[in-house]
Amino acid sequence: MEKENRGQWGSSFGFVMAAVGSAVGLGNLWGFPFKMGVGGGFAFLIIYLILAVFVGYVVMISELTIGRKTGKSVLGAYQDLSKKYTILGVFGVLSPALILGFYSMLGGYCIKYAVANLGDAFHASWGVGGANPADYFSAFTVDQVWTVGYSFIFVALTVLVVVGGVAGGIEKFTKVAMPALFFMLLIVIVRSVTLPGAGAGLEFVFKPNFEVFMGTGWISVLALAGGQMFFSLSLGMGIMVTYGSYLSKKEDIQFNAILIPFCDTLIAVMASLAIMPAVFAMGLEPDAGPGLLFITLQTVFSSMGSIGPFFGFLFYALVFIAAITSSISLTEVLVSVVIDKKAEKGGNMNRKTVSIIIGLIIFAEAALVSVDGLGANGLPQPLGFCWLDFLDLLSEGLMMPIGAMVMSLIVGWKLGLKFLESEITLEGNRFRARGYILFCLRFVAPILIFLVLLGQIDTFFKMDWF
Ligand code: PHE
Repeated sequence: MEKENRGQWGSSFGFVMAAVGSAVGLGNLWGFPFKMGVGGGFAFLIIYLILAVFVGYVVMISELTIGRKTGKSVLGAYQDLSKKYTILGVFGVLSPALILGFYSMLGGYCIKYAVANLGDAFHASWGVGGANPADYFSAFTVDQVWTVGYSFIFVALTVLVVVGGVAGGIEKFTKVAMPALFFMLLIVIVRSVTLPGAGAGLEFVFKPNFEVFMGTGWISVLALAGGQMFFSLSLGMGIMVTYGSYLSKKEDIQFNAILIPFCDTLIAVMASLAIMPAVFAMGLEPDAGPGLLFITLQTVFSSMGSIGPFFGFLFYALVFIAAITSSISLTEVLVSVVIDKKAEKGGNMNRKTVSIIIGLIIFAEAALVSVDGLGANGLPQPLGFCWLDFLDLLSEGLMMPIGAMVMSLIVGWKLGLKFLESEITLEGNRFRARGYILFCLRFVAPILIFLVLLGQIDTFFKMDWF
């Protein structure tokens, strides 16, 4: 009875779109193209793929299995395995809660930029106009009223979908949104690669630079690619556990654990094709970090002539879709934990009420990050980081890799293959590559994740270890 109330995906396609929607986010459109460029182009892609095969795949399979087997959201799922693992569940809740603080603000930025480009298309006063994109961006980031306002809109839209439930809200939305994103991206790619001078961008992204394999360079690329992979695949933080808990027993977990990373990587490579050729064609720098998305690319659209605002609108709308489908998954993790915990105690909590309360908490966090204005508004700065970086450090930098590493060790050494097998082989699916999965969970994944963790600490604290 309890389980029936939790909801379930209506179709395989719906589940895949929801999971890919979670995976495809700002990380793909913003992080990946740039990291590929500085990490040795094709060489980075190879390292990324190796990591996805050895680590991403086995962590994904384990998380989906834990979710489906226990039928619970992340906190309850780990507690079901053993009370000793509660801390993993707590990490699985805290990471999304922290990420949502800055993700919602950035999502709000996307709405602002989509609106502004639309304004330009109609020569309205609320467009970017002829403003210098760098000045426009800094003026917006410190504008506390508008940044808080746009964060609010983003959180409210997320909550609206989550309130609809698993099949009626999340699945229904992502089934339309993700194919739309795909086609929008195709249009932007065609424009980008046909710009005069686009070749230099293609070269930046795809040209193999195997020098990264010399000396210790590969460790930094490994850390770069590993951090990117965890964030991008939404691993190590309860999302795939939660989404797996809504998965029908008929679904083949092994196939889905390949399909999701495949789609995610495809979109990331497509994003590289969409972004870098345009950046180079306009003679801009690819290494603008966070500014890449809002300054460099706005410069591209502002210099495209009368067609620019239309592409600008299309592009930022696409990034917004990527961001909101990720934010929906992060929010669902939190909502499902509250609903499940209440149900365990015999109570019944209304999804709408829970979603709204959680939405308000997320909004409070997002408001803090927005008011901070990337550290430019004089708020106290934790450990010397701006609030965005601080929340990112705690979640992406520390909790996600630690959570995933401990999870691999537990599944590999304590629960063992039997645990995975009994769930994966339901409905007669054959459990393939058993030895490979066990070996990866026991040795390869923990070691590689540990290196990623070192790399994250190195980057955040500028240690210069590698
Ligand atoms: N995977 C998303 C991205 O690439 C972000 C994300 C991280 C979403 C963690 C959910 C959980 O941007």
